[in-house]
Amino acid sequence: MRVVKTIDEVRRQVKEWRAQGLTVGLVPTMGYLHEGHASLIDASHRDNDRTVVSDFVNPMQFGPTEDLESYPRDIEHDAALVEAHGGDLIFHPEPEEMYHEGFSSFVDMTVLTQELCGLSRPVHFRGVCTVVSKLFNIVKPDRAYFGKKDAQQLAVIRHMVDDLNMDIEIIGCPIIREADGLAKSSRNTYLNADERKAALVLSQAIAIGKDMVKNGEKDCAAIIGSMKQHIEAEPLARIDYVKIVDCATMQQIEKLDRPALCAMAVYIGKTRLIDNFFTEDV
Ligand code: PAF
Repeated sequence: MRVVKTIDEVRRQVKEWRAQGLTVGLVPTMGYLHEGHASLIDASHRDNDRTVVSDFVNPMQFGPTEDLESYPRDIEHDAALVEAHGGDLIFHPEPEEMYHEGFSSFVDMTVLTQELCGLSRPVHFRGVCTVVSKLFNIVKPDRAYFGKKDAQQLAVIRHMVDDLNMDIEIIGCPIIREADGLAKSSRNTYLNADERKAALVLSQAIAIGKDMVKNGEKDCAAIIGSMKQHIEAEPLARIDYVKIVDCATMQQIEKLDRPALCAMAVYIGKTRLIDNFFTEDV
């Protein structure tokens, strides 16, 4: 397993693999890897001959008041995890390698990004689409792996790949949770002990929503109301959104009459956490 910092090194390695007829999977990450990322690497290792993991805290997807500077980083830990899970190459560039002076081309999307996280993080998806397109052009993988915890991101990437005729299969992988239900996230490290306990309201609210769907509730307002009520009872929690949207359009719906995504973003103290479930999976 090698860690490389330049685009040239990645291209040379991938060309060598291609010359041997090998398939390549890409796991895009911002590093500080946990079991959620490990499950993506496992899936890529299973499906492909070689796996590239990108490890890059992408400045373009952070807003001016967000946590770019404090975002956790630990490349030694990441390298050990990637190696243990069968990854072959980590691409760990500096921001200047990805965004040279004069960089001025962006990939943006006019649909799917107008709701949920796109509303509270207006520059986020332009940054994600741009960096993921660049990673796809650099690595040219057969398949790329994304977690369903970032359900809107997964939908946006699928849509971008379709719109721009990118010849890459996008694989969505299940949310990985701590034993007590909290969805794994690099941002969980921001939580102090009280906040860590309080953060359980997210997965508990997900369980409440899932139960209601399972029991036949079709009224989105009723489901959202019960989930919000549970979260609002926790003093350390502040809701950014709890919404139910059409899976295909990411637009809010009133009745569960089609495949839907129930998604939430909740601040626990200063830390913004997300969680979700697909009604089809209930
Ligand atoms: O999901 C993430 O960690 C990031 O948004 C991604 C896809 C690696 C792009 O920077």
